[in-house]
Amino acid sequence: MIKVITYGTYDLLHHGHIRLLERAKALGDYLIVGVTADDFDKTRGKINVQQSLIERIEAVKATGLADEIIIEEYEGQKIDDIKKYDIDIFTVGSDWVGKFDYLNEYCEVVYLERTKGISSSELREEKRSIHLGLVGNSSFLNKVKDEAEYVNGIQISALCTDNLNIMSDEIKKVDFITNDYFKLINNVDAVYIRSLPNMHYDQIKYALNNGKHVLCESPLTLDEKQTMELFELAKSKNLILMEAIKTAYATAYRRLLLLVKSGKIGDIVSVDATCTSLKNNDNDWPGIYEWGPTALLPVLQMLGSNCKDYRIVSHIDKNTQLDNFTKIDFLYEHSVASIKVGDGVKSEGQLIISGTKAYVYVPAPWWKTDYFEIRYENQNNNQRYFYRLEGEGIRHELVSFVKSIENNIYLGNIDIIVTRDITKILNFFEKGIYQKI
Ligand code: CTP
Repeated sequence: MIKVITYGTYDLLHHGHIRLLERAKALGDYLIVGVTADDFDKTRGKINVQQSLIERIEAVKATGLADEIIIEEYEGQKIDDIKKYDIDIFTVGSDWVGKFDYLNEYCEVVYLERTKGISSSELREEKRSIHLGLVGNSSFLNKVKDEAEYVNGIQISALCTDNLNIMSDEIKKVDFITNDYFKLINNVDAVYIRSLPNMHYDQIKYALNNGKHVLCESPLTLDEKQTMELFELAKSKNLILMEAIKTAYATAYRRLLLLVKSGKIGDIVSVDATCTSLKNNDNDWPGIYEWGPTALLPVLQMLGSNCKDYRIVSHIDKNTQLDNFTKIDFLYEHSVASIKVGDGVKSEGQLIISGTKAYVYVPAPWWKTDYFEIRYENQNNNQRYFYRLEGEGIRHELVSFVKSIENNIYLGNIDIIVTRDITKILNFFEKGIYQKI
């Protein structure tokens, strides 16, 4: 009996898939189809797959062509499968020519001509494509443009900036460039805002009042009441308002949060986060705004919003008279936290979460890490966790935004309460309620 195996995502199953499966089946007597698990697929840059793994498996099953269906979950699994199922022929479409030649060592490799004019990506794009406008004077927008390329269902179609000379050639290819925010809003379905924090409130309000979804770099506003007012406005208009902090979408950080919350290190007693930078480039916002939201994220996500007391101290730069380093101490009922943020002062950018059983150590720069450790009293028990960091989290942030819009419900990783608390804490700075040194 000749056994054949093939792999794919099979999202929104189309006739290209069916033709491939028919020909794969005809190569032998028994066909095994490996359907790629969601997580595994993300690592290949396919993102925003529309159907769940179960739905995709059901669709393949319904073709009646597969004798057996398996799930592909990890890189390197193909070799294991070929040995395990005693496979004679491995086959995929011609878009993969050459990529799987290494499997020739284990079985015959056949590339089948890909059906022209159809693909899951095109179907996903057709289904909906959100036209997103980028707003701000920061070269960070170039990264957002690049990352959006990996996300199905969104397309960067406009840019609003006063600083065109720092923008990449790629971003300048968008359909519409302006320095007039009001004009931009008329040309898009949604906006990504990275203007200065004190402009956010007016810009978000205008966008929502004109029926546009908003993804805005944290802090959303500089006042808790304004933040809640905007969320209410978004809700009343059936629009998505989402705060952007890329770290919240980095896989390692997400896993870390789950582990810590599941009690892996016992009770959390202290969260200490440091984020600093020295360079003063066009990406930077003044003082606390540059790093404050990122450093506050683990504190608020792990310890919650019932903080009993804050102590905020800022170091003021002699020349600029602006804060270039801030330390905030938090007192909770049964735990403490501290953040150190600096723009103009350098320190070790690590994150440490201390618990009653163990502690988590995330090396610098923790906000874009692919790795962390859980460390125990007996170091032989230490565990290391590695994850792929894709696009510093921006890619997954965009996917969450698109999915939220599609499903008409907020599916982001940052609770509204956390967003509110970030603005509440930054409001102390606005009001000057902090100690200066
Ligand atoms: N395939 C094909 N003809 C097409 C599309 C896909 O022969 N028009 C084949 C692929 O080469 C692969 C299998 O079908 O062997 C599963 O492909 P998959 O990656 O799931 O589908 P695509 O439509 O290529 O998805 P995407 O657009 O996301 O790349």
